[in-house]
Amino acid sequence: MDEVLLKNGLLILPGNSTRADILLEDGKIKEIGTSLHHDLAHIIDAGGKWVLPGAIDPHVHLDLPTPAGNSCDGFDNAATLALAGGTTYLMDFVTPAQGQSLVDACKLRQAEAKTCGIPVGLHVGITWYGPSIAQQMEICCKELGINSFKVYLAYKGSIGIGVQELKEVMNVAAKLDAVVLVHCEQGDEIADRQQKLLLQGISGPAAHALSRPACTETGSVKTVLALCAATRCKTYIVHTSTRGSMDLIREAKKAGLPVFCETCMQYLLLDESKYQLPQPEGLKYVMSPPLRSMADCEALWEALADGTADTLATDHCPFDTRGQKDRFPMDFTRIPNGAGGLEHRLGLLYTYGVKSGKISPSQWVGLTSANAARIFKLFPAKGSLNAGADADLLLWDPQPTHTISASQHFSRCDSDIFEGMEVSGSATVLLSGKVVAP
Ligand code: URP
Ligand code: ZN
Repeated sequence: MDEVLLKNGLLILPGNSTRADILLEDGKIKEIGTSLHHDLAHIIDAGGKWVLPGAIDPHVHLDLPTPAGNSCDGFDNAATLALAGGTTYLMDFVTPAQGQSLVDACKLRQAEAKTCGIPVGLHVGITWYGPSIAQQMEICCKELGINSFKVYLAYKGSIGIGVQELKEVMNVAAKLDAVVLVHCEQGDEIADRQQKLLLQGISGPAAHALSRPACTETGSVKTVLALCAATRCKTYIVHTSTRGSMDLIREAKKAGLPVFCETCMQYLLLDESKYQLPQPEGLKYVMSPPLRSMADCEALWEALADGTADTLATDHCPFDTRGQKDRFPMDFTRIPNGAGGLEHRLGLLYTYGVKSGKISPSQWVGLTSANAARIFKLFPAKGSLNAGADADLLLWDPQPTHTISASQHFSRCDSDIFEGMEVSGSATVLLSGKVVAP
C-alpha cells in the first residue's frame, strides 16, 4: 500500500506549530488537514509526537582519505547513523586530487554516493586552481547537477588554495548562481605558528588549538566577507566557531550581503579545556577549527537564536583515537582532524537548544533542515511539510532519554566527543513515505 495517513501529530512549521493529519501518497505529501480520511491508507497514530521534515546535514566527510587512514564512517554505514538521528539527506564533498579534473572526480564521487542508503548531495572542492577551473565548474553545474563548491583557506600545501584564487572561484560561482562554501582559517599564519610550536617542543593536541587561535578564523572570515561584497557570490561559511566571526557575519547580513553561516554542536557544547585532558583523551577533540572558549560557545547560541547562524551541521569526520589520532604522538600537525556527531545532531540541539529554551521548535527545524534546503536548492521538495514535498518525515517523540556513549553509538569510531551527555527525544523516520527507522 502506498498511502499512509499520519493522524494528530503536532506539525512544526516555520514560525508556528499546529495539530493536523498528513496524507502521504507515492512517496510525497499529498494533503495536510484536520480529520483527514482515506479508506486504503495505513494509519500511523502521531498523537503526542512532533512531525517535522527529515533533517539535512549539509556537511559530512565520509571515507575521507588522510595519511592516518580514512575517516571511520563511509557510504556503506552512514545511512544507519543518519537515520538513527533523524537525518534523511546528507551533503558530502568531492575532493579532487591536485590537477585532477573536477568533472571526473565528481562523477566518481557521485557513483560512490549512490551506494548510500539515503540520498546524498555533493559540494565540489576546488582543491587546486588553474585556467580550466571556470569551465569545469560550469560543467559541474550544468551537466552534473552541482550547485555548490567548497574552498579551504586552511590546509595550505594539500587541499587549500589562496585568497586571490578564491576570489576567482567566487566570480565564476556568482555567474552560475552557485554557492561557495568557505573553510575560513588563515592557512599561512597557522603554518607559521605550527612550525614555531614544534621548534619549542610543544607537540601534543593542546598545540593544535594554540596554532589556530580565534583570530586566525575571525581574520579569515573578514577577508571572505570582503570578497562576498566584491563578487556578490552566495557565500556559506562552514563550522563558524568564534564570537568575532559571528559579529562580522551578523553585520554583513545586516548590510545585505548574500552570506550564510553554519555552526556545529561541538562548538556550542564543548570548549578548549578538553585539550588539557590526559592523553589519549585530548586527541579526540583535534578538529579544525579547534574548540574555543565558553564565551565563544555563548556567542554561538546567541547567533542561533537571532538568525545569524543559518544551519547546524556536524562536519562528521571521525577518526579512531587508538590507531589513527594517536599515530604521530610527537607531531600534532599530523593528527587527523575531525570528529563525529551525525547520529546526535538533532537530539543534542533539541535537548540543549529547544528544551532549555534557547531556540524555538521552528528554529530547530530551520537550523537542521529547512534553511539548508533553501540554501542548497533542495526546497520545497526537502525541508518542508508542504503538499507536494518528499515524504521524508520525522515523528519526534520528545520523551525518551539516553546517554551518549561510544559503546552504544552506531558510528564505527572507537570514541565519541559527546560521551556521557544526556539527550532527550527520538525520531521515527519515514523516507519516501515508508518507515525506515527505528
Ligand atoms: O577537523 C575537521 N573539521 N575535519 C574535517 C575536514 C574539515 O576541515 O572540514
Ligand atoms: Zn568539514
